[in-house]
Parts: sequence; structure tokens; C-alpha cells
Amino acid sequence: MALLEKSLGTYILLSSLLFSTILYPFSTRGGGEKAQPSHDYRFEEAVVESRMRRGINIGNALEAPREGEWGVYIRDEYFKIIKEAGFDTVRIPIRWSAHAENSPPYRIDEAFFKRVDWVVNKSLEQHLTTIINIHHYEEIMQDPLGHRDRFKALWSQISEHYKGYPETLFFELLNEPYGELTDEKWNMLTRETVEIIRRTNPTRKIIIGPTGWNSVYNLKGLVIPEDENIIVTFHFYTPFEFTHQGAEWVNPSPTVGRKWLGTQDEKKQITDELNMAVEWAMQHGNVSLFMGEFGAYGKADMVSRVRWTRFVAREAEKRGIAWCYWEFCAGFGAYDPDRGEWKTELLNALISEKHYVAVETEYGNAFGTGWYDEGSYVQIGIDITSWGFYVFDHFEGLGPKDRIIDETTVEIYVDDCRMIKAVWRIDYVKPLTIALICFAACAAATLYKKRALKAFHN
Ligand code: BGC
Repeated sequence: MALLEKSLGTYILLSSLLFSTILYPFSTRGGGEKAQPSHDYRFEEAVVESRMRRGINIGNALEAPREGEWGVYIRDEYFKIIKEAGFDTVRIPIRWSAHAENSPPYRIDEAFFKRVDWVVNKSLEQHLTTIINIHHYEEIMQDPLGHRDRFKALWSQISEHYKGYPETLFFELLNEPYGELTDEKWNMLTRETVEIIRRTNPTRKIIIGPTGWNSVYNLKGLVIPEDENIIVTFHFYTPFEFTHQGAEWVNPSPTVGRKWLGTQDEKKQITDELNMAVEWAMQHGNVSLFMGEFGAYGKADMVSRVRWTRFVAREAEKRGIAWCYWEFCAGFGAYDPDRGEWKTELLNALISEKHYVAVETEYGNAFGTGWYDEGSYVQIGIDITSWGFYVFDHFEGLGPKDRIIDETTVEIYVDDCRMIKAVWRIDYVKPLTIALICFAACAAATLYKKRALKAFHN
């Protein structure tokens, strides 16, 4: 009887093993941790609300001492060209201080106002969010208190003049405060000027940036006035030795020849600074961020410029930061006004194309299929490693820039439409194990039967 029980026990154990192998053919994914995006913040709502995402500065025109003196005279068709290329925002730097009286009431020249009206109207006609600012007011940087009243008088006139304009016209108080315009003085001036603007424009978006030429490092000194319609701007030219190589207006001018290769260190330098801005914004009521200028001067090599521009634009977008490229058609220009065409490489780096990525698998589920921006990195993969007698082996269709994350996940670089296929192989261990178990079970059953019969005859 003891023998009978033992044989029966073995039989049951073997059968349950056999059943569990057949009825539980899937094992869940193993391998390393799936890489997580490094941040979970998003200001997208704010960006959508502010109707800005991708913009371009029409620089070197109205902020020159006289329009045209720096080689750019704004032509009506520029706005259509900009809109059709895929931008939604235009920033128009304006040197109001060169077109206003030097003593009270600091009246702005009528003809200049008319010219700005024309430019603003052409931009708004194209449904472009349009930013006007005070640019190159150098005197206020040297003597903030001496120019305080004049600055406020300029904004008083500008805000009165445009009070009836659509909400898609934004005001930016002052480009790149620096020098004697310290945090303390700038915060005071900002508060007083916002108060003036609000008398005539209660809800218009007002853009304010930190001192230090709108550096992210100076955000910590910026006090945002209590107001629901403030956007905070910063300018991004890191690393300066690359973006400003050969710049005639910088003394000493960084040496020409520096490349931007996109190494891990170079990328980290950029993402660290963007993260700094985002962290600051999160600590300040999730205020909308606007990267109002970024670009690399035309003396840098085009490949590095494109690489840098694409990286900065995509990294800003990932963080929900609206951006505005510096600039349209001068030294940093993305558009060639003489040929009347875009510099395609730069335009593509800014307004990236989307490509379709298809991830296919015969077994289990694949994730990652979809449309993605050119130049972005996307995680694709499958959610299990084995299916019946099959085990996942590898992905077919990977390129040199793709990166294995773990056993079932890959990060692919989107440079074209991509077709990635999960390849499976038969797991011979499984059928062999089952055959062995069946054989053992049959043998055990036969043995059991023989012994039982023997016992019965005895
Ligand atoms: C200045 C431009 C300059 C650019 C990059 C802008 O804020 O107004 O004159 O070219 O920054 O340095």
C-alpha cells in the first residue's frame, strides 16, 4: 500500500508539472528596469493657453537704430512665409527708445508707431501670436533710475496704443536686462510697469525675463508680479563659445571653429540648464516658460548648428517650454532673403517632420507604434518574453543610433519612417521537457500498473 501511495504521489506530481507547463505558457517580461523619462512635469496646458509653441524672431530690423541699417527691412510676405513653414509665433524686437523724445512726455514718433502697426497687423493677419518688446534700450542698463520714468512712459503709450488689439499680441517688457539694472531695480521697475499696462490691458499676456541678459541662472532673483497673465522668458545660448563664435558684437569674440558634437557632456550642459528653469517655474506656481531667443551664429559650421538647434528645440518641447529661434534672416538666420528660401537644414531642425514608426510582433503585444518628430528618441518594445514554445530573440530593423535599454525595450532614433520587427525563436527546452515529463509519467503509470497487478495476483 505504501508503495502504491508513493507511486501515485509521483504520478500526481509529474502530471501537475506537465499541466502547469502546458497551461501556463507565458512568462512575463524580465530584464532590467524600463528607462523612465527624467521628469514628470509638463507645462503644456500653459503653453496651449498662451498660444505659443514654435516661434521665430524677426531680428536686426526694428531694433536697429533705424530699420534697414542692420540689413533687414521687414517685408509683408515674411509673415506668410513664416506661418506656412509651421511657426505659430513671431517676436519683433523694437528699439522704441530711438524713436521717442528724451524729455517728458517722452512722446513716441507717430511715423514709427505707424510702421510698427503695419508690421504687427501683417503678423496678426497670419494668425501668428505676435510679441513686441523694448529692445536695445542700452541707456537704462547704465542708468536705471535716470530712465525709469521714460521707460514707464514708453509702456504707457504702447499699451494705450494697442489696447484694442487681439489677445494674441503679447508685450515683453525689456530685452535682456543687465549692467546697473540689478535684480532689485528690475523687480521694482517690472512691478510698476505691469501696473501701468494693466490700466489699459487687463488680461494681455506680459512677458518678463531675469537680469543677466535673461539668463536662467538669474531666475532666482526675479520676482514675478502677482498677475495671472505673466509668462517668464529666458534666453539660451549655451555653450556661448559655440553659439557666439566669431560674433563681432562680443568682446573678446569666441574663436571660430568650435563644433557642437552632441556628446553626453554637451547635452547634459543644456538639459541641466533647462531643468533649472523648469524647477524654478515649478516652485513659482508653474508659471509658463518661454525660451524667447536661442540660436547659433552663422560662423559656426552648419552641421553643428543644426545638431545644436534641433537638440535645444526638442529638449525645450519635451519640457513644455515654448521657444522662439534667434532669428529669421540675418546672421543667425534660418531664411535666406536673397535667394528667397529657407535654409532647409535649419528649418527642419526647428520644425521637425514627423515619421511613422511601426513595431510588429507575431506574439504578445508590441508598444511604440506611432508618429514621432524627426530627430527624437522613442522607446519601443514588447511586453512579454515568451509565448507558448516561442521565446523573444531580438528586434529586426535597428540602426546604428538605436540603443538597447533592456531585454525587451529599445530606444530608437527617428530619422525616417521605421519598421521594427520582433523576432522569436522556438524554445527547444520546453518541448523537450514536456516530452521527458510525458515519458516519465507514462513509465511511472506503467510501473504502477504492473506493480498493482502483481500485488493483486499475489
Ligand atoms: C541681441 C542681438 C544678438 C542676439 C544674440 C539679442 O538679444 O539683440 O543683437 O545678435 O541677442 O547675441
